[in-house]
Amino acid sequence: MQKNTTYNRRNFIGDITKAGLVGLLPRPDFAEQNDAPVKNSAGALFITKPYLQNLSPTACTVIWITGKPCKSWVEYGTSAPDKKASHASIGLIDANYINKITLSNLQPGTKYCYRICSHEISDFQPYKLTWGADEQSELYYFTTPDTQEDNISWVVLNDIHDRPASFPLLFSLVKDFKYDFVFLNGDMFDYQTNQQQMIDHLLSPLGNIFSTTTPFIYTRGNHETRGVFARNHYNYFENPDNRYYFSFTRGPVHFVVLDTGEDKEDDHAEYGGLAAFDAYREEQEKWLAKEIETPAFKKAPFRVVMMHIPPYQSGDWHGTMHCRALFNPLFNKGKIDLLICGHTHRYGTYLADDATHHYPLVIGGGPLESKRTIIKVNANSRELKLVMLRDDGTEVGNVTVESRKRR
Ligand SMILES: [Fe+2]
Repeated sequence: MQKNTTYNRRNFIGDITKAGLVGLLPRPDFAEQNDAPVKNSAGALFITKPYLQNLSPTACTVIWITGKPCKSWVEYGTSAPDKKASHASIGLIDANYINKITLSNLQPGTKYCYRICSHEISDFQPYKLTWGADEQSELYYFTTPDTQEDNISWVVLNDIHDRPASFPLLFSLVKDFKYDFVFLNGDMFDYQTNQQQMIDHLLSPLGNIFSTTTPFIYTRGNHETRGVFARNHYNYFENPDNRYYFSFTRGPVHFVVLDTGEDKEDDHAEYGGLAAFDAYREEQEKWLAKEIETPAFKKAPFRVVMMHIPPYQSGDWHGTMHCRALFNPLFNKGKIDLLICGHTHRYGTYLADDATHHYPLVIGGGPLESKRTIIKVNANSRELKLVMLRDDGTEVGNVTVESRKRR
């Protein structure tokens, strides 16, 4: 077993403290902490570019934010944007700032073009709507996965902690690596403040790099559970089953994503009596026990788990120990092939060990210079290959796993 030094709780507290001191947003007053957006500087209706979520062979969700409540739709198609989709629920077409529209009945393995369209509702009277500006974006493109795809690639970032400049730097290290999707493996923020933080520190940087054409998947970290805006977080994303814990299959890999919650006890003073993560993790344990018995899990050449807090190499705080007690026995029983985490701010690669975790554990680093990492993974039906790069481009870890069907 390749071992790093035992994780030191005092150093960990130090890292968190530093993370809270560097690169802070201007923190607004409580009264400003809502999701009513401000107009962007150009006065345009679109405050973000569209970004893709929950891409499957037959569906894709497009999300964007507007500066005014809008009636919105997506125009899309294969050779031309000749189809139109909007979203309605309980009989009402959305009239929102956060526009979330799912394109369904798509063809697998097909390239689509799309553009977003919004029409401002400048005055919303009960019996009279006044319409304002309308706007449409340029054309963007995405490709649905083929149901028979043999080869997939993805990249993982974690623990960015409100440092948006880290995104272009880390992605520049993988510019020659073609990835199908991106995992944000938790703690993109120090804590959740308001929509402006979501835009400036996540959605805009990602939109400028990849998320108009390539989807990302959000694994929630403990810092996403903090702050007055934490309860609004999910409004901006869409996962399978509309939860933060779920599974899906891409090519030879079956993914399990877990939401590891907070790192301290629920009754810790920091959480003010508003944390209920023990019960939530237990709910996930029950779900995971069933998940590892599903045909999709059992049949996959590779089973990869993504979650923020590692069950080992992460000190002995409650979150780590609870994840270890609940999830690790099921990971071992289900014979997962790889676990990718963040949280500790110390990158490391830990080989399978009979006494603890029977699978390799990879922990990405961050958020400070020379600690940040980007992880790239490629898998085909024979082999899964992971490489972890530090922010100076140096390879700082790698794992190769042969498909269980060849072992
Ligand atoms: Fe964390």
